[in-house]
Amino acid sequence: MSPSAAFYEDIWVVVDDGVYEPADDTFMLCDNLGITPGETLLEIGTGCGLVAIVAAKAGGQVIATDQSEAAIQNAKKNVALHKYSNLIEIRQGNLFEPIRPNEKFSLLVFNPPYLPGTKEDPAFDPAWSGGNKGYEVTEKFLDHCNQFLQAKARLLLVQSSLSDPEHIKHQLEQLFHTVDVKEEKAFFFERLILFEAKIPR
Ligand SMILES: C[S@@+](CC[C@H](N)C(=O)[O-])C[C@H]1O[C@@H](n2cnc3c(N)ncnc32)[C@H](O)[C@@H]1O
Repeated sequence: MSPSAAFYEDIWVVVDDGVYEPADDTFMLCDNLGITPGETLLEIGTGCGLVAIVAAKAGGQVIATDQSEAAIQNAKKNVALHKYSNLIEIRQGNLFEPIRPNEKFSLLVFNPPYLPGTKEDPAFDPAWSGGNKGYEVTEKFLDHCNQFLQAKARLLLVQSSLSDPEHIKHQLEQLFHTVDVKEEKAFFFERLILFEAKIPR
């Protein structure tokens, strides 16, 4: 297969083979970034880099990570294409591994792999399989997220009705002073929920 393209408003990106193709969850995140110019943003699991590019276009200073080598190469290509290398730094690694302990952000975003699926499943894909219950990768992310947040920071986190969003909401409430559903949309086989959590405890 050859690379394809994805579009959000007037931004288009190349999507390489083996990299998550931006979809409704990606666009929900892009619609709700609410960037203040100069804001420092960390995106975990950037895929082809579209969310990071939307954030940079709105004035954010971004570090975007992914564990997948294909995603890293793809995101670097799109960042160069849009000439945002001064605003977006791409780093490879598992969750917060590529982030130094002294780096703190005002906005953290993650559209995680959130569908139930394990490595034993023939259809397993690390871009969207989040573990047996679907939320295991998200839980590992939540274990460490507050270490990298500024005092008044916010978190935007995508979840699906297929992987017990109430369970994750409960965990968010332990970690943040306020937790809201920023947007919720029904699609043909799932409901997507975008949580916004503010002010780490
Ligand atoms: C659902 S895709 C979202 C991609 C992109 N942010 C978007 O919204 O279109 C999840 C992404 O997270 C990456 N990912 C999965 N597990 C990860 C982990 N443990 N650490 C870092 N990235 C991870 C995948 O490689 C994939 O690119």
